Amino acid sequence: MNDIDILGLYFKGKELENAIKEYENGRPAAYIIGEWEFFGDRYFIDESCLIPRCDTERVVETVLKHLPENGRLADLCTGSGCIAISVLKRKPLASGKGIDISSSAIEHARKNAVINGVENRLDFSVDDVLDDCLENEIFDVIVSNPPYIPTKDLEKLDEYVKKEPTSALDGGDDGMVFYDHIVSEYGKNLRENGLFIFEIGYDQEEKIRITAEKNGFDCTVTKDYSGNPRVALLKKTNKSEEI
Ligand SMILES: C[S@@+](CC[C@H](N)C(=O)[O-])C[C@H]1O[C@@H](n2cnc3c(N)ncnc32)[C@H](O)[C@@H]1O
Repeated sequence: MNDIDILGLYFKGKELENAIKEYENGRPAAYIIGEWEFFGDRYFIDESCLIPRCDTERVVETVLKHLPENGRLADLCTGSGCIAISVLKRKPLASGKGIDISSSAIEHARKNAVINGVENRLDFSVDDVLDDCLENEIFDVIVSNPPYIPTKDLEKLDEYVKKEPTSALDGGDDGMVFYDHIVSEYGKNLRENGLFIFEIGYDQEEKIRITAEKNGFDCTVTKDYSGNPRVALLKKTNKSEEI
């Protein structure tokens, strides 16, 4: 189904005409509608939130596979909350925390936790992941889909993607600023045998392997449905142990 078909599900008559006009003027369908589907669930969003992507569903699947039933999950750069909420909705004994620098995104994430019935097990806070935002808390999995586009590549993005917040996309000079910080800073917040699980850009496999190795982690990368490297799983263990 293309975006105009999707608009047709939400609007009729004159409202649909106006919605199509807005879309043709470059506003993404998700922002016109004010909500989007992710992992089969509904998420409220606006221009402060990245539009949840299908590729990120691979991250959710990986977390679901590895988070213990009653585990603790941290979702850094949570945006609409789509990763943490999708996971906790399917792990009724698990709990977690979502952090984002955007207070408006966190407002949406809180609302999304309520409509998806996980608000009692998921706290959100506005904080800077590039500081030490987890303090002494311990987690089984720290997941993140951080901004990872190299700054110089932002200009080349599709016009619709450019309507999403730059702060959700800009990963610094080499796109690695968030991964480098998270892996070096938050290893202390992982339980023994705990995991980092990241969404990565299609061309970042080599770089994330270097970051992992530098910080004493083994790294396994899996592909998305288009065959691109997409999910990195980092585990700090005995090197001889299988991930
Ligand atoms: C790529 S989006 C991911 C959003 C959501 N997790 C998803 O997968 O759809 C990255 C998010 O990082 C947030 N962000 C950017 N800089 C940040 C920082 N220094 N600390 C915390 N969050 C930050 C943005 O506001 C944005 O919501």
